Amino acid sequence: MADRRSSGQDADERDAADPREESLVTERFPAESLVRPGADDLERAAEAALRPRRLGEFVGQRVVREQLSVVLQAARMRGRAPDHVLLSGPPGLGKTTLAMIIAAELGASLRVTSGPAIQHAGDLAAVLSSLEEGEVLFLDEIHRIARPAEELLYVAMEDFRVDVMVGKGAGASAIPLALPPFTVVGATTRAGLLPAPLRDRFGFTGHLDFYSSDELEQVLLRSAGLLDVQLAGAAASEIAGRSRGTPRIANRLLRRVRDWAQVRGDGRLTLAAARAALEVYEVDERGLDRLDRGVLAALCTRFGGGPVGLTTLAVAVGEEPETVETVAEPFLVREGLIGRTPRGRVALPAAWSHLGLTPPHDPGTLFA
Ligand SMILES: Nc1ncnc2c1ncn2[C@@H]1O[C@H](COP(=O)(O)OP(=O)(O)O)[C@@H](O)[C@H]1O
Ligand SMILES: [Mg+2]
Repeated sequence: MADRRSSGQDADERDAADPREESLVTERFPAESLVRPGADDLERAAEAALRPRRLGEFVGQRVVREQLSVVLQAARMRGRAPDHVLLSGPPGLGKTTLAMIIAAELGASLRVTSGPAIQHAGDLAAVLSSLEEGEVLFLDEIHRIARPAEELLYVAMEDFRVDVMVGKGAGASAIPLALPPFTVVGATTRAGLLPAPLRDRFGFTGHLDFYSSDELEQVLLRSAGLLDVQLAGAAASEIAGRSRGTPRIANRLLRRVRDWAQVRGDGRLTLAAARAALEVYEVDERGLDRLDRGVLAALCTRFGGGPVGLTTLAVAVGEEPETVETVAEPFLVREGLIGRTPRGRVALPAAWSHLGLTPPHDPGTLFA
């Protein structure tokens, strides 16, 4: 449990006053949970094998896909680097994948860096001044770039120029260096945190949304093919329903079901295998894990459905308030299981029925 506190920050849900101050904190999630949207290095390696390489293989996000395909095709026809592209949306929905696809579709090479890696203007100047014509520069978590570097980025994106500082102190001077045309692909989970001048320098912004169950089924069947395992349609649908609208989680659950089928089953990913495996991993039919259910159970049974304050609720489940607020709550709120009111958290009707309980009174009055 204590691990969860130290590693349980959802970088994307945190309400940081100034995200730049915590640039050393990369996405971290409780290691024991399968349904958090972030990924660690090990998982990133497993994911690499499952990434769609071309736009045509990318499942769902029809609108963004169509818009991007036009932007890219037009650039190809003109033989020029396309406008800078901003991709926004929750973690695990395909931003990094799309950045790679953009480079692949342009036949360009991809340079990858991220906001937290750019602490000083000089870090960015070094990257920019080594760019080659037509290259795609992927700036992940762009909302966390250091402020002095941000200004440098404005100029580079707009005027394709970087001012290189030469010398030190009073004798220092800026030498302008012209950059070849290139394309920035920025990714952010918090588009609202981007300063307007930075946002304005992107010619195109694609917003990624959660996937439908049908789309996640397609993702799963595609991944199963790549992993060379037999995935029954009913099993795909079962896993999709527990994946929180997020391909990263779907692929992760698929790998765990595959493990189970190999060790405890006959290797085939049947509906029964999927159910048994996800029961072992404590991911329920709605994609809730132990902590999520603990919060719901405490709210409904200990506090009669609330309203109850965050701190009290956290004590009841043996967690830090921040963990409850940033790790468990966002999805519970999104699913309409709990509500946040000025007087505290309340259980919504769906929470009671999910736990197989009957609400003691009309929960609607809690909002009165
Ligand atoms: N539209 C999609 N079709 C198929 N797989 C996808 C899709 N979007 C994401 N994935 C898979 O989900 C995983 C996470 O995607 P990623 O691009 O790293 O998400 P993000 O950068 O938004 O956090 C990758 O392994 C990728 O293969
Ligand atoms: Mg990413």
